[in-house]
Amino acid sequence: MAKQIREPGTYLYPLPVVLVSCGLGDEANIITLSWVGTVCSAPPMVGIAVRPSRHSHHLIRDGGEFVVNLPTADQARAADYCGRVSGKDADKWTACGFTRAAGVRVRVPLIAECPVNIECRLRHTVPLGSHDLFIGEVVAVHVDEAVLDEGGRVDFARLAPFLYTGRDYRRLGEQLALPEVPGTFFYLRRAVGRVSRVWPWRARRIASRSSQGYSTVPKHMDCSCPLPQAMTTSPARAI
Ligand SMILES: Cc1cc2nc3c(=O)[nH]c(=O)nc-3n(C[C@H](O)[C@H](O)[C@H](O)COP(=O)(O)O)c2cc1C
Repeated sequence: MAKQIREPGTYLYPLPVVLVSCGLGDEANIITLSWVGTVCSAPPMVGIAVRPSRHSHHLIRDGGEFVVNLPTADQARAADYCGRVSGKDADKWTACGFTRAAGVRVRVPLIAECPVNIECRLRHTVPLGSHDLFIGEVVAVHVDEAVLDEGGRVDFARLAPFLYTGRDYRRLGEQLALPEVPGTFFYLRRAVGRVSRVWPWRARRIASRSSQGYSTVPKHMDCSCPLPQAMTTSPARAI
């Protein structure tokens, strides 16, 4: 394997694509972001990196709230639009046919058409250079029941998210394997072992339920998205 040594750069791809809503009332805006991630489990926190030049930047900084909306593959074009056009010049809600919905813990509107909406309250702002990192605490999450499986978990085949590679957008592929979380299995085995000594029939039920939960083969991706696998071929933008 011959490897090139390259200058430092942003090589961490693919990345999620999210639509962040911010601002209030008529000022409410939508910005497409990929420089995002979960940064803390307890309390649950997400980080979004936004250039100060973005119209959304001051809406988030001054408003102290934002909502991370997860788009589906059929919303890839809308996401691309919200990542090319500024809220200074256009009403992205109307242009994309998106509807504002009320949050429960924040005043910033959610995008009703996105199946998952994560309400966040701004906790930290970290200036990094080209971008400021806004760290928000998750204060409420909305999940469309249509993307849940029988166990109440998000079924990613139904959610049909898409990824950004730096050059184009791609669908999430098929399931490869189920993660073996050593801790989980260790505790599960120990629990089943303990229970089986007292109630063998309950242990059998626990084992069978857990195997159902971990062996669900995802349903075929049910998405009416007309886009080809790679949607755009435009050169990578300076994000
Ligand atoms: C796929 C994609 C990902 C993007 N990710 C970011 C990002 O993480 N941070 C950022 O500041 N801009 C990002 N952008 C650019 C902004 O979305 C874009 O400049 C947008 O028009 C700014 O909107 P606003 O001026 O209404 O805030 C991204 C654009 C695209 C298409």
